[in-house]
Amino acid sequence: MILVIANQKGGCGKTTTAVNLAGAFAQRGMDVLLVDSDPQGSAMKWRGLASGTFPVGVIALPMPVLDQEIPKLAKKYDLVVIDTPPGMETITRSALVVADLAIIPLQPSPLDLWSGTDIVGLVRKAQQLNPGLRTRLLLNRKIHGTRLSRESVEALKEFPFPLFETAIHQRIALAEAVTAGKTITDFYPDGPSSSEYRALVEEIVSVGMGETP
Ligand SMILES: Nc1ncnc2c1ncn2[C@@H]1O[C@H](COP(=O)(O)OP(=O)(O)OP(=O)(O)O)[C@@H](O)[C@H]1O
Ligand SMILES: [Mg+2]
Repeated sequence: MILVIANQKGGCGKTTTAVNLAGAFAQRGMDVLLVDSDPQGSAMKWRGLASGTFPVGVIALPMPVLDQEIPKLAKKYDLVVIDTPPGMETITRSALVVADLAIIPLQPSPLDLWSGTDIVGLVRKAQQLNPGLRTRLLLNRKIHGTRLSRESVEALKEFPFPLFETAIHQRIALAEAVTAGKTITDFYPDGPSSSEYRALVEEIVSVGMGETP
């Protein structure tokens, strides 16, 4: 399975989602490759902070050739997770055309929701070449008990793609894990963020086996 984490909006949590999801799948026993297609190299830098082993392989491929390269790499792994850059449409499109599932992280803020129309258009274009591409929205940085978060869940229902039931809440441990060079499920395995990523993994597994695109 090939997962792409995409949203042209900067800072919405693509890298956080890509690295921690890859780690949560690895903890489930899967052999996972994380592809950093962002020229900023954030996932590579995160991995570079690890003092010991890292639960997933990480490679940099910041070029719009993912559609040619990823299928070859995918044969050697149970799962490939691609982190994409903000803005750079050609790279993101080349990932979307080989993906089985696109995950779009969005923050609970009107500014982030408005700019979500850009990625919707890009997914639609990619689906012309890759009609089997499934797409799901992921609410990231949800804050417990806020009206904004509740309203954002409502606003996300207007998007043409379903929203994962699991949301990732705003938690400092997610930033601390980066500093420690660890995925959240290694950094704080019993913490609430790890439980959320594990729940997300289970939802993704069920989406992967479902019938609706
Ligand atoms: N759920 C969360 N809780 C706390 N901090 C978060 C959460 N999600 C993301 N962050 C923090 O927000 C910042 C931006 O996240 P991240 O780098 O993952 O976004 P991005 O979409 O990959 O950004 P870019 O578009 O620049 O690649 C980082 O400092 C990250 O640690
Ligand atoms: Mg990033």
